[in-house]
Amino acid sequence: MIKPDCKTCRNRKECDIVLGKNSDRTGCLEWTPSRFSYGLPYKGSKNSIADWIVDNLPPNLILIDLFAGGCAVTHAAMCRGKYLGYLVNDINEAPQVFYKALFGEYDDPHYKQFVSREMFFGTNDMALKLIWSFGTDGKTYIYGKDIEHYKKLCHFQRLGICDVMDFIKADPHYPNHKWSNCQSAMNWERIHNIPLSFGEDLENIRGRIIVQQNSYEELGPIISPITTVYCDIPYKGTNSGCYGGFDHEKFYDWCREQKHDIYVSEYQMPDDFEIVAERPKIVRSAAESNKIYSTEKLFVHRGG
Ligand SMILES: C[S@@+](CC[C@H](N)C(=O)[O-])C[C@H]1O[C@@H](n2cnc3c(N)ncnc32)[C@H](O)[C@@H]1O
Repeated sequence: MIKPDCKTCRNRKECDIVLGKNSDRTGCLEWTPSRFSYGLPYKGSKNSIADWIVDNLPPNLILIDLFAGGCAVTHAAMCRGKYLGYLVNDINEAPQVFYKALFGEYDDPHYKQFVSREMFFGTNDMALKLIWSFGTDGKTYIYGKDIEHYKKLCHFQRLGICDVMDFIKADPHYPNHKWSNCQSAMNWERIHNIPLSFGEDLENIRGRIIVQQNSYEELGPIISPITTVYCDIPYKGTNSGCYGGFDHEKFYDWCREQKHDIYVSEYQMPDDFEIVAERPKIVRSAAESNKIYSTEKLFVHRGG
């Protein structure tokens, strides 16, 4: 069956790679209609499969996104109006950045400025750290020293800060680096676009989102029959090291202690976690040019 909406699907590129360019799209990787990216630019973001996750989570009054990071899943659920309230939590302050982005805080010209390598290492502002880091890891500066000046021109041009097209064309990097593919500018645009995804409903959202910065165990007491709990934990054996080392066994035991269902994204979980849904996904790694395929799974541990 050819999906009628293939031309506008956000997953079209992914389908082309997994299913082949001339495929009739049988086995479509789920049509995701949004024009917007979900959540912040964030390493490990679920943006590309956020609609699929939301489809497979049960409806309820409140969604608890316990490892929310850049909040892609919460953002997708909000766009669909699936829950009445949202609790976004992470051990770091990324959900607070998402909250501020929702209400346009990063439209301030300060956030459009060019952030040099020195400025990047000198700031603690997480929004700037995400916009200006390589692979949005928040730690490594986005551009190599040789290209920094050229990228500065591209950043100015793409964000309309000033017209420097003549300088861009005169730069020796111009033939190899398309000025419009300016990652820092695109990261800023992504944050800037978050409120636009709600249009006039934005004010309606304000009172329905609560942000917390805790380790997941501390939220155990608020889990109840009116909450759906989603956990996008650091995946085992992948990059959990960059989140300061995550104790997976401790997390499994915590899930087992809960009286209510706990939904978890992972590649593999112990046998007492059921698979709710699975689908192919390309694992993109900004640090590697080759792409790796994996099977993305959503598990549930049923409450006792
Ligand atoms: C895979 S990322 C989540 C990405 C997110 N779903 C998104 O779409 O942007 C995993 C997150 O777990 C968070 N994390 C690690 N240990 C945690 C803990 N003990 N409690 C809460 N969050 C934790 C990390 O800070 C990281 O943001």
